[in-house]
Amino acid sequence: MADGSQSGPDRLAELDSLRSESLLGGGLEAVEKQHEKGKLTARERLDLLFDPGTFVEFDRFVTHRATDFGMDKKKILGDGVVTGYGKIDGRPVYCFAQDFTVLGGSLSETFAAKICKVMDLAVRNGAPFIGLNDSGGARIQEGVVSLGGYADIFFRNTNASGVIPQISVILGPCAGGAVYSPAITDFIVMTKKTSHMFITGPKVIKSVLNEDVSFDDLGGAYPHYQKSGVAHFACEDEHDSIDTVKKLLGYIPQNNLESPPRVMPEDDPERMDAELDGIVPDNPNQPYDMKKVIHHVVDEGAFLEVHAGWAQNMVVGFARLDGQSVGIVANQPNVLAGTLDINAAVKAARFVRFCDAFNVPLITFVDVPGFLPGTEQEHNGIIRNGAKLIYAFSEATVPKLTIVTRKAYGGAYCVMCSKHIGADLNLGWPTAEIAVMGPQGAVEIVFKKEMDQAENRAAKEEELVGEYRRKFATPYVAAARGYLDDLIKPRETRPRLISMLGTLSGKRESRPPKKHGNIPL
Ligand code: HXC
Repeated sequence: MADGSQSGPDRLAELDSLRSESLLGGGLEAVEKQHEKGKLTARERLDLLFDPGTFVEFDRFVTHRATDFGMDKKKILGDGVVTGYGKIDGRPVYCFAQDFTVLGGSLSETFAAKICKVMDLAVRNGAPFIGLNDSGGARIQEGVVSLGGYADIFFRNTNASGVIPQISVILGPCAGGAVYSPAITDFIVMTKKTSHMFITGPKVIKSVLNEDVSFDDLGGAYPHYQKSGVAHFACEDEHDSIDTVKKLLGYIPQNNLESPPRVMPEDDPERMDAELDGIVPDNPNQPYDMKKVIHHVVDEGAFLEVHAGWAQNMVVGFARLDGQSVGIVANQPNVLAGTLDINAAVKAARFVRFCDAFNVPLITFVDVPGFLPGTEQEHNGIIRNGAKLIYAFSEATVPKLTIVTRKAYGGAYCVMCSKHIGADLNLGWPTAEIAVMGPQGAVEIVFKKEMDQAENRAAKEEELVGEYRRKFATPYVAAARGYLDDLIKPRETRPRLISMLGTLSGKRESRPPKKHGNIPL
């Protein structure tokens, strides 16, 4: 136009041009590099995550404010993070995706502010929040402003905890203090080969400790999935990681005021599985696979194990019973005889607290010979850590249903969602043994003198063990006291759980008002 102002069509064309520019991130060369590393770009990831055409972006025109170190010439629309909301299986979800092609996805003041904005919206609107992480960490050129940005995010992660589900997907580097945002969220999904999490990298470790370690061995998906317990899932690739997020969301509600989504059940609620009747071996010391029990009881194909690689003596995960989402907590006799150790207690306690916060009923399968003995466990705090699980089960007010399949010995009997700490339904199989300890240990303590004085010690011991087993290693004493509400055939487990779950749908239970408890951390 003659006066220099733009016409309507020019303004629209300019907007189109800026929008296209913002889609490019760090440019074609950087995108190529990203692909060469076996990684997708932020926008390709968002395309996989959201239902087609539902993602709506915020703040695409934001740029950073730094001027030092030539940063005034490195302004890129969006500043290295794509934020917004979209739908996953028709349900709204807020999200950020760090864009490694822009300054290594490093976090600036404005980058953090973009994330905080969508986190606030997610909480205000009661929708899950997902972070796709792929970043070199704090933007070095911004110094403390960047650190402050991280702290702003940690503060929001904490406030959102227990209000909306938060899931972190690690798709590249996540280093230094940056790891603490994912660590506060409910679930961490790592991708094999391309994702890494660590506080200090291999170079620092070499210079401080003179220790050689590779990126993968230090902070790859495997060490965090199998050793540290930081990662709940280790996925094959980025597609698998994003599929896992979708599966997970299918079991959990949008927020703490809603119930989990119910699906149309495809499995008969009255199904009685005769195979369950023979699943517990006659020999009480012979292991069996508790996951088989779970699969026979829950709706067919509906079990998503969480933390499957870590503390395998405890199994936790989401399942469905007659289409209703439930959280499963189970001892695993196949690993360490199902004993409770530090990691098993911590793993189960965290899962129980998630289910309680988000209205997911708990189903507990018990076969536990006790706590794992030994100085290693004692000195690393089995007392402090075992207490977490008692605390978590006790404070949980969601429906709690427990099945004792075999051993429930000693303190572990109390811990594993016993009647005494508030379970709504406690069932025993005829193979259940509830006692202070196993027969062998018990007679060794109580009848030591008699056995030492006996002509044939071994025969006496056998006789006493048999007597103890008949008297105490059964479910009948507990059932006579009402600590078990009923004894059932294993095949009856599924219909009994479904029937009771139905009666508990309106469960109301409260605890004394307090600011918060003091879980033994
Ligand atoms: C600014 C960064 C950056 C950062 C990477 N880049 N990290 N820019 N701040 N933190 C830039 C690089 O300069 C490069 O820019 C581009 O991103 C890609 O990086 P490359 O090094 O070429 O990529 P790659 O070889 O894949 O290595 C990735 C990396 C490495 C392992 C992440 O970049 C790296 O070690 N970065 C530093 C990591 C780090 O120590 N961050 C601080 C962590 S402490 P050009 O222009 O060349 O393409 C932290 C504190 C958080 O974050 C505190 C919270 C409280």
